[in-house]
Amino acid sequence: MRAHPALIAFALVVSCARAPAVAPGEPGHAQGARHESAPSNVLRSDYVGSAACSACHAKETEAWARSPMHRMTRNADVADVKAPFDGRAMRFKGDSVSLESRGAARFVRIARDASLGELYRVTRIVGGRTREDFVGVRVKSEDDSRAVSDEMVLPVSYLIFSGALRYKGYSVLVHERDSAHAGPVWSETCLFCHNTVPFFSTVLGALAGPRAPAYQGEDLAPLLPEDRRWTWSVGDEHALAAAVDDELAHLRSGAPPSDDSPQTVLRTAIAATRSSFGGSDLVEVGIGCESCHGGARMHVRDPKTPPSVVPFGPMLAMSPPKAKTPEAAHAQEINRVCARCHQVLFSRYPWTWEGGRRTSNDRGGSPINSGEARDFLLGGCASAMACTTCHDPHDAKDRAEKDDALATPAGNAPCTRCHATYATDAALRAHAHHDPRGPGGACVACHMPRKNMGLDLRLTRYHRIGSPTDPERVLRDRPLECALCHQEKSTESLARTMESWWGKAYPRDLLERLYGELSEPNLAATLERGKPHEVAVAAAALGERHQRADGSAIARGLVNEYPLVRMFAARALTQAIGKDCGIDVNGADVAHIEAAAAACLGSAGLSVPAWAPPGPARPGDSEPVDD
Ligand code: HEC
Ligand code: HEC
Ligand code: HEC
Ligand code: HEC
Ligand code: HEC
Ligand code: HEC
Ligand code: HEC
Ligand code: HEC
Repeated sequence: MRAHPALIAFALVVSCARAPAVAPGEPGHAQGARHESAPSNVLRSDYVGSAACSACHAKETEAWARSPMHRMTRNADVADVKAPFDGRAMRFKGDSVSLESRGAARFVRIARDASLGELYRVTRIVGGRTREDFVGVRVKSEDDSRAVSDEMVLPVSYLIFSGALRYKGYSVLVHERDSAHAGPVWSETCLFCHNTVPFFSTVLGALAGPRAPAYQGEDLAPLLPEDRRWTWSVGDEHALAAAVDDELAHLRSGAPPSDDSPQTVLRTAIAATRSSFGGSDLVEVGIGCESCHGGARMHVRDPKTPPSVVPFGPMLAMSPPKAKTPEAAHAQEINRVCARCHQVLFSRYPWTWEGGRRTSNDRGGSPINSGEARDFLLGGCASAMACTTCHDPHDAKDRAEKDDALATPAGNAPCTRCHATYATDAALRAHAHHDPRGPGGACVACHMPRKNMGLDLRLTRYHRIGSPTDPERVLRDRPLECALCHQEKSTESLARTMESWWGKAYPRDLLERLYGELSEPNLAATLERGKPHEVAVAAAALGERHQRADGSAIARGLVNEYPLVRMFAARALTQAIGKDCGIDVNGADVAHIEAAAAACLGSAGLSVPAWAPPGPARPGDSEPVDD
C-alpha cells in the first residue's frame, strides 16, 4: 500500500482556533466549512459529489450510472419508476393501500375500513433492482400537496420480479402486522446506507463509545470478531469540536457546544444528526463515488493527490485490523468500505446461522440478504481477500451472470490464486470427492453455499466462507449444506459420507435432536422441524428441483409464523407443482391459507400435509428497522 500524502500530512497538523459562528447563507458557509484545518476526507466540506468526477473518469462514471447501487435512492421526479401508479391497490387486513397519480405527481393512499384515509405525495423511490419502496409526505389532497408531515416510509413495496404489491414491513423477518400505516421517518432510518453522506456523520457513534445514544450511525464493530474490527477514537479534540461546530451550523441545529468535553460534543452532534439530518443535507441522493472513495475535493483540485478509501482527518484516530501483507491490508481497507452498509443484522428476528442468537456473544452469520460484508468478515479468507475479488464495484452486471461464472470449476481461479494446492483436477478430486469438472467441483459450491434468503425470494450465497463439514453447521444448523444440491438424500447418508470422506464424527443423538428420524430426507425433516429461516431455505432448495411430489412438504411453510417465510414457500410451491396456487400469504389468516392450499394441492393430486403446530412463543418482536 502506498502511503497517502494526506496521512503523512497528519503528523504536521496544527489544530485550528475556533472561529466565530457564521450563520447559514452568509459568505463562509457556502463551502460548508467555517474552519480551516488540516487535510481530511470525512467532513462535509471535503466532498464534491459524483458530477465532479465524470470529466476525467468517464469509464467508471458511465458504468456506475447504470449500477443498481447508485440508483438506490432517487427523487420522485425521475422517469424510470417501475411501479405502476395507475390506481391499483394492495389489500392488507382491513386496509387498502393504493398507488395513484395526478399529472407528474405520484401518490399513495392508505384507506382504513373503506374511509378515504391518508394521502401521501411520493418524494423518493428506494430500490429498483428487485423491488421499489416509497417515501412520501402527507398532504391534504391532490390539489393541495404541501407537506404536513416528515418524509415517511410508506407501507407498500412493488416487487419487480413478480409485479405484485407487498406490505413493506414484510421484506424482512418480522411477525404478522395488524394494519398498514406509514413510518418510520425516512431520514432517521434509511438515509445513511442508501445515499452519500459525510463519513464523519456516520462515525460519531463509534467515537462516542459503547454507551452512545442510538442513531443511524451506531457503532456496528461490536458485531464483528475483534481481529476484524476497525476502531475509531477521538484524535485532536479541538479539531473535533470545530468539525462538529461546522456540521451543527449546516444542520441549523442548536447552539454549537462551547468548551465541552469531547463526549458532550459528540452527544450533541448525535442528537442533532438524529433530529435534523434530512434529505437536503445529503452530499448526494443515492450512492455516489465518494460513498466509497471518501471526500475527494483535494483530488479534484489536484489529481496528483489520490483519493483515499481510508477515512482520515485530525479529529479521528483509527486503528485498522492487523494484516500480514500490504495486499491483505488493502483488502481490509476495501472490505471496511463495503461493510459500512452491508452489515445489516437488525430486524428483531432472533436467530443467526451457526445456531447463534442475534443478541448473544456467539451470534453467527445472517440468514438473510444485506449482511454480506459482516458474514464475509466472520469467515475464512477475509483477512486477505476483498469483495472486489468477485465484485467490480463500478459495474452493473447481473448477479446471476456473476454466479454462473463462479459456480463452475472454471470459476475456481479467484480461489486457487491463494489456495494453489487445489488448482489441479487431481488435487481437487482428492479434496472435494466430486467431479472436478462438474458443478460439485466449484469451490463456492461447498464454501459459499446458496443458503441465504435473497431479496427476490430466491436463495443467494452465504458470504461466510467455511466448510459444509464444520461442526457448528452440521450440529447447530439445518439443513445440511450438502442437501441444498442433494435434495433427496437422507440426513444419515450425508452424515456418513462426510464422515468417511473427511474423517469427521457427528454424534447421532445431536443430529436426532435436530431432525428426528435420520433416514428421512434432510430437507423434508428441516421443513417439518426447522426454525423459520431454515424452513424458508429448505422450501426454496426443494422447489428448485421442480418435482410435483415435493408440493405437500413445501406447503407446510405456507403457514409459518413469519410472512416472509410463507412467501418463500409459496414461490417454491409454484416451482414444484408447475402452477401458481394464487394463495395470498401476505396477511390472510391461517385457516384461510390452509383451506386454499388444500384445494390447490388436491387439484394437483397431492395430499394435504399435517400442518405444523403453532410456532414457539414469540420472542420480543417490537419495532424493527425495516429494510
Ligand atoms: C481533473 C481530472 C480529475 C478529476 C475531476 C477526478 N480525477 Fe480521479 N484521477 C485523475 C487522474 C489523472 C488520476 C490518475 C492518477 C495516477 O494515476 O497517478 C486519478 C486517479 C483516481 C483514482 C485512483 C487513485 C489510485 O490510488 O490509484 C481514483 C479512485 C479516483 N481518481 C477517483 C476520483 C473521484 C471519486 C473523483 C470525483 C470526486 C475524481 N477522481 C475526480 C483525474 C481526475
Ligand atoms: C445498515 C444499512 C441499511 C439501512 C439502514 C437500510 N438499508 Fe436497505 N439495503 C441495504 C443493503 C446492504 C441492501 C442490499 C442487499 C442485497 O443486495 O442483498 C439493501 C436493499 C434494499 C432494497 C432493495 C433494493 C433493490 O434494488 O432491490 C430496498 C428497497 C431497501 N433496501 C429499502 C430500505 C429502506 C426503505 C430503508 C429504511 C427503512 C433501508 N433500506 C435501510 C442496507 C441498508
Ligand atoms: C461501491 C463503492 C465504490 C463506488 C460507489 C465507486 N468506486 Fe471507484 N473503486 C472502488 C474500489 C473499492 C476501488 C479500488 C479497487 C482496488 O483497489 O482494488 C475503486 C477504484 C477506482 C478507480 C481506480 C481505477 C481502478 O479501476 O482501479 C477509479 C478511477 C475509480 N474507482 C473511480 C470511481 C468513480 C469516478 C466513481 C463514481 C462514478 C466510483 N469510482 C465509484 C469502489 C467504488
Ligand atoms: C453507502 C452504502 C453502501 C456501500 C458503501 C456499499 N454498498 Fe453495495 N449496496 C448498497 C445498497 C443500499 C444496495 C442495494 C442495491 C440493490 O440491491 O440493488 C447495494 C447492493 C450491492 C450489490 C448487489 C447489486 C449489484 O449491483 O449487483 C452488490 C454486489 C454490492 N452492493 C457490493 C458492494 C461492494 C463490493 C461494496 C464495497 C466496494 C459496496 N457494495 C459498498 C449499499 C452500499
Ligand atoms: C468469492 C467471491 C465473492 C466475494 C469475495 C464476495 N462476493 Fe458477494 N456475491 C458473490 C456471488 C457469486 C454472488 C451472487 C449470488 C447469487 O446470485 O446467488 C454475490 C452476491 C452478492 C450480493 C447480492 C446478494 C443478493 O442476493 O441480492 C451482495 C450485496 C454482495 N454479494 C456483497 C458482497 C460484499 C459486500 C462482499 C465483501 C464483503 C462480497 N460480496 C464478497 C461472490 C462474492
Ligand atoms: C487473497 C487470498 C485468498 C483468496 C483469494 C481466497 N482465500 Fe481462502 N483463505 C485465505 C486465508 C489467508 C485463509 C486462512 C485464514 C485464517 O487462517 O484465518 C483462508 C481460509 C480459507 C478456508 C478455511 C476457512 C475456515 O474457517 O475453515 C476456506 C474453506 C477457504 N479459505 C476457501 C476459499 C475459497 C472457496 C476461495 C474462493 C472463493 C478462497 N478461499 C479465496 C486467503 C484467501
Ligand atoms: C464438494 C465440496 C467441496 C468442494 C467443491 C471444495 N471443497 Fe474445500 N473443503 C471441503 C470440506 C468438506 C472441507 C473441510 C475439510 C476438513 O475439515 O477436513 C474443505 C476445506 C477447505 C479448506 C481449508 C482446509 C485446507 O485444506 O486448507 C480450504 C482452504 C479449501 N477447502 C479450499 C477449497 C478450494 C480452493 C476449492 C476449489 C478449488 C474447494 N475447497 C472445493 C469441501 C469442498
Ligand atoms: C453444487 C451442488 C453440490 C453440492 C453442494 C454437493 N454435491 Fe454431491 N454431487 C453433486 C453432483 C452434480 C454429483 C454428481 C457428479 C459428481 O460426482 O461430481 C454429486 C455426487 C455426489 C455423490 C455420489 C453420487 C450420489 O448421488 O450418491 C455423493 C455421495 C455426494 N455427492 C455427496 C455430497 C456431500 C456429502 C456433499 C456436502 C459435503 C455434497 N455432495 C455437496 C452436486 C453437489
